[in-house]
Amino acid sequence: MLKVVVCVSGGGTNLQAILDAVSAGKITNTEIAAVISNNPGAKALERAKNAGVEGICMSPKTYESRAAFNKAFTEKLTELNPDLIVLAGFLVRIPEETVHLFSNRIVNIHPSLIPSFCGVGYYGLTVHEKALERGVKVTGATVHFVNEGMDEGPIIAQKAVAVEDGDTPEVLQRRVMEQAEWILLPQAIDDIANGRIRVVDNHVCRASRD
Ligand code: GRF
Repeated sequence: MLKVVVCVSGGGTNLQAILDAVSAGKITNTEIAAVISNNPGAKALERAKNAGVEGICMSPKTYESRAAFNKAFTEKLTELNPDLIVLAGFLVRIPEETVHLFSNRIVNIHPSLIPSFCGVGYYGLTVHEKALERGVKVTGATVHFVNEGMDEGPIIAQKAVAVEDGDTPEVLQRRVMEQAEWILLPQAIDDIANGRIRVVDNHVCRASRD
């Protein structure tokens, strides 16, 4: 059974997609053990509660320094001892010590086709604003392992989504979620839980789902 901790900051629609996929048997061999939020008001914490999953709030703002938060965050994860950490809209930079401790065991969902529209400053609606500004006709989402860089780890899966005339950042964000994020992230977790993902030379090899 893959023990998963999901880290969130906001609405938690990706968390919901994961919880629903576990309930529906679309993700197998997996237990969502806890949800960590840096934001006490995150709707995601409500979603965790409704699903009977432990919600933990840890905000860098409540620690005297970033180093103190990093230490507490890493200790909490060590105590929870997950097989996989899923960053589902988590707006806190993962401490390097956590990345090393959980090497190839942290995944992130990013709402663009990496390496486009990613890196420092590219989060939330900004990603979609930049895609629209550039006039791309196709965008999408990416699930990747987390390394020390920002949105730079090995790519697990990507899905393209069309940009349509008249899109606003909000409309595009919603389409990317519906057509890519809420499908890709549960699939990636199921693939990991069932041993279909291997990292070789910093590249992901994925066995067929059949
Ligand atoms: C998603 O677009 C995700 O790709 C990004 O942050 C957003 C989180 O949305 N990393 P939600 O909290 O899952 O609704």
